[in-house]
Amino acid sequence: MSTLLTIDDIARQTGLEESLLRFYESECAEELPKKILRGDTLFFDKTSVAAFTSIHSKYQSGKQHQKNQTERFGRVIAVTSGKGGVGKTNIALGLAIEFQRQGQMSVVLDADMGLANVHLLSGLTPRHDLMDLIKGEVEMSELIETGPEGIGVIAGGNGMLAMADSGQQDRHHIIQSLISLEKAAEIIMVDTGAGMGQGVRDFLLAADELVFVITPDITSLADAYGLLKALHQENMPPRPIYLIVNMVQTLKQAAVVATRFASCAQDFLGISITNAGYILKDTTVSLATARQTPFSVLNPAARVSKNIRTIAANLLKQDVADSTSSAFSRYLNLIQAEYQRSEA
Ligand SMILES: Nc1ncnc2c1ncn2[C@@H]1O[C@H](COP(=O)(O)OP(=O)(O)O)[C@@H](O)[C@H]1O
Ligand SMILES: [Mg+2]
Repeated sequence: MSTLLTIDDIARQTGLEESLLRFYESECAEELPKKILRGDTLFFDKTSVAAFTSIHSKYQSGKQHQKNQTERFGRVIAVTSGKGGVGKTNIALGLAIEFQRQGQMSVVLDADMGLANVHLLSGLTPRHDLMDLIKGEVEMSELIETGPEGIGVIAGGNGMLAMADSGQQDRHHIIQSLISLEKAAEIIMVDTGAGMGQGVRDFLLAADELVFVITPDITSLADAYGLLKALHQENMPPRPIYLIVNMVQTLKQAAVVATRFASCAQDFLGISITNAGYILKDTTVSLATARQTPFSVLNPAARVSKNIRTIAANLLKQDVADSTSSAFSRYLNLIQAEYQRSEA
């Protein structure tokens, strides 16, 4: 038993980050000794330390060949809520547009399985979605449509969920494409839909940063708290979590709601929430929705457009948590671990 090591042990002995080890684990499975399942934990054998170290040095030297191109991944920011209709899609899109305007190459990935409408709000018609990528019918480059201000827009369709159920080979293919996207884009906004299903929650556990959207409506606050608690119970690793209060009447109302959410999260779950800002309730947004144009494009001078600009600036000010590991490969590891558990 003493020769069995956990991933933590390996991390300590190799000095490599767990996320990096997980990445190598999925990339170079055939170069690693077989893992051993005891109870519900996977253990590594002692020789794994040397195997991981050698894979790491191989990757490092490989990188030197890629002329001064260091492995950097864009920020993957998931926008979520406890309940629907709170403004996630408008916010995910609006933030990507602001980031793009401020020189950050941005992409919106529509991962809302219930009501996928990023395209609609961008005035685009999706020709393909991630499902077509899984089926091998298109490449990632064909999936990305050019949206307002030059942002990239990708339709998820059922792809994000189907990935968990698809075969190892397909899963690998789609994640590789998403990882290459993560290397190319500076910011990827993921419109996740309301986070009640396990598929969405797995993705939230893997994202670099989370944005919770709530409204002054008390059920939206309660549902968002419920989601945060569910993530907490699934041992979510620490990461930046932001709050946006949408559809507020006044600044004071926004402050009251934000404080209530943040103090519940702090007091009951020990999670700190960063208030990213608020957006007023304004007919500009619904008018823009009806015209299939993002509100900040339809009316850049509107108060809501200033609100989203302020929020984008707040998010850009934050230190990027960790750009050396990939959110999508963490997601792959999570769904793979779940798959193995269900098989065991
Ligand atoms: N700040 C706002 N003021 C007025 N209406 C809004 C605002 N934000 C969103 N809406 C409206 O609320 C509805 C839901 O917005 P949407 O972004 O689709 O939410 P979600 O993605 O959370 O379901 C849309 O009709 C939209 O026009
Ligand atoms: Mg939506």
